[in-house]
Amino acid sequence: MGVKYFADKRIFKLDANNTSYIIGIVDDENFIGHVYFGRRIADGHFSPESLMRINEYPFVPSKNKRDRLSFYDTFPQEYPTHGIGDFRETCLEIRDVNGHAVSKLQYVSHRITGGKPKLEGLPATFGNEDDCTTLELFCEDPVLGLEVVLVYTAFEKLDVITRSVRFRNNGRDPVWLKKALSCCVDLDGADFDIISLHGSWARERHVQRIPAGLGKKIFSSNRGEPGHQCNPFVAVVRPDATEDSGEVYGFNFVYSGNFYACVEGGQFETTRVAMGINPTDFEWLLEPGGEFIAPEVVMVFSYQGIGGMTRTFHDLYRGHLIRSPYRNKKRPVLINNWEATYFDFDTEKLLAIAREASALGIEMLVMDDGWFGKRNNDNCSLGDWVVNEEKIKGGLKYLVDEVNRLGMDFGIWFEPEMVSPDSDLYRAHPDWCIHIEGRTPGLSRNQLVLDLTNPEVVETVYGMLKKILSEANIRYVKWDMNRPLTDLGSNYLPPERQGEISHRYVLAVYRMLERLTTDFPHILVEGCSGGGARFDPGILYYCPQIWCSDDTDAIERLIIQRGTAMVYPLSTIGAHVSDCPNHVLGRTTPFETRGYVALAGTFGYELDVTRIPKEDREMIPEQVKMYHRYNDLIREGDYYRIADYGENRLYDAWMVVSKDKREALVTYIQVMQRPNYKSRRIRLKGLDENTVYRDEQTGETYTGSALMYAGINMTGLHGDFKGKLIHLTAV
Ligand code: DGJ
Repeated sequence: MGVKYFADKRIFKLDANNTSYIIGIVDDENFIGHVYFGRRIADGHFSPESLMRINEYPFVPSKNKRDRLSFYDTFPQEYPTHGIGDFRETCLEIRDVNGHAVSKLQYVSHRITGGKPKLEGLPATFGNEDDCTTLELFCEDPVLGLEVVLVYTAFEKLDVITRSVRFRNNGRDPVWLKKALSCCVDLDGADFDIISLHGSWARERHVQRIPAGLGKKIFSSNRGEPGHQCNPFVAVVRPDATEDSGEVYGFNFVYSGNFYACVEGGQFETTRVAMGINPTDFEWLLEPGGEFIAPEVVMVFSYQGIGGMTRTFHDLYRGHLIRSPYRNKKRPVLINNWEATYFDFDTEKLLAIAREASALGIEMLVMDDGWFGKRNNDNCSLGDWVVNEEKIKGGLKYLVDEVNRLGMDFGIWFEPEMVSPDSDLYRAHPDWCIHIEGRTPGLSRNQLVLDLTNPEVVETVYGMLKKILSEANIRYVKWDMNRPLTDLGSNYLPPERQGEISHRYVLAVYRMLERLTTDFPHILVEGCSGGGARFDPGILYYCPQIWCSDDTDAIERLIIQRGTAMVYPLSTIGAHVSDCPNHVLGRTTPFETRGYVALAGTFGYELDVTRIPKEDREMIPEQVKMYHRYNDLIREGDYYRIADYGENRLYDAWMVVSKDKREALVTYIQVMQRPNYKSRRIRLKGLDENTVYRDEQTGETYTGSALMYAGINMTGLHGDFKGKLIHLTAV
């Protein structure tokens, strides 16, 4: 059992693989305290009171009634509430019918069960009784009549504890939730670094590491989606933590909307980490009897450095988050026409690409933006999901059948959450977009966001999608989303629920994705948002892969994919070989190198295969073969970062090792050549010391210990942007 209750000490001990997480109930008032989170410790023979410091005057609640606030402001609370005297970051802020903002929780009872209950309407990790155990702590604020259930799941074989929170108004009056975060942990010590992922369009998820220090550091989004700028992930790490050693606490929010993460170094050498829905643009009315669920936070602990954390996230998401039937399968090698044609295409052009592509071994044609309404540029037609037969001459079915006849599958692009002012949908229903009457909503890419809180809007749009997807043999959908939410107002919701728009919007997207994947289970759905603005575990619950970035330049991708893979498995990272000079950067890199970088993701093409240089085209069959040879390993293996071009500005290297350590693939990219540098030695990771491995290309053999401790020389590369693969198999 991964969760135990020790009644004598009133503590709950959650054990997840090599991790322990301990909660204590203290005092007559049943405060819920955080005792410990870290490397696994044995049951018994430790003192929760002393670890929580509740015997130390003035922090003793029962003995120091005259200075209760000293207790509130120091006690490591599992779910701190606003207004009683904990002046650090809190998780819960309410407003009651009298206009007051105070709440206070006490433990009432608990339940321990095998497995993990679903979070109704929300994506979350899953597991059965063999995988995990769940603890529910039933707490209440008796004055408000508010029940708050803190839900924890400990995974047996992974260093993972998940948290979420359920609220129920058992009182007679409404309560407004103004802030309802999902987790809080008070870590011992104020000496930590923070790792987070930041960027911009075409520059997503660059890794930042900064000292946590004292005071608050906030990582958040209020864009209605995570956005390009900040991912819903933070790791709080000991300053001596490296890629391979040291203590690391990773927090990732399973949510695709506004998020908030706060790391706060406090006055008594503790660091509080809190995460959940961003309280900005959030308010939820809980009528008597009403319920609310705060989405899940995944907490990963590693004492084997940042790499250890990464591999735990990868294992958890591949095994216990992604539900798609494609999650353990090779995805078809696709060619997408976006960078090939943009809006300028028709049936003939697509078929010409498909003919050439199929001859080269490519397995699917994806028709991107521009096939519907009058969409010849990005100024119109979103919402009019009707095939433009002036471009798609002969209709969609004809095109798909022709592509199928070439032995290829067919995929299609949608942006279902949006509407163009210049569209039939908008002209018929101008009130169906998110806006405030009397204010002109701001446009982005000349489009508005549909008010998905209104079920009629969802029905109409989903109906159009369903019709298209039922019309022809479509095996893949790219679900795009190209602007943030602003001007939050809904004609559908009453005034007292306008604060719910952002969260209801996310719930509606989840409902639509659930419907799509249920109605069309054979369709591979790839998430996308102006590149990778919505790359989060919430989307992965529905889509096994997400387009990582609109920047397809192989060298920029080293940094983007590295940051993405900090948390998300390589199998989820949408990566394509595109044309050069690269459309975003104007940089030219060898076709071969573009292939190596795309192999560390889903792999595909994004170019006009009829127009690229012959030498490049001739490399495609070999690249496709490489994909088939290595994809099982890349998709399912353990990922190790070896060298970071973002730091050294010269070269990058990573490797993937099969779970049984019998096979490994090393990718080395020499970004900048240096004079007189004929080779560079790199040290491999994750191999078995005593196994002898053969380099499949040279036939040389090495022990795992030699490869890991002495290293291997990267030779034979001359020039910038060159790369090579080393495939090692156990002899
Ligand atoms: C943004 C996506 O990231 C691109 O790949 C492409 O699908 C465009 N949208 C189409 O508008």
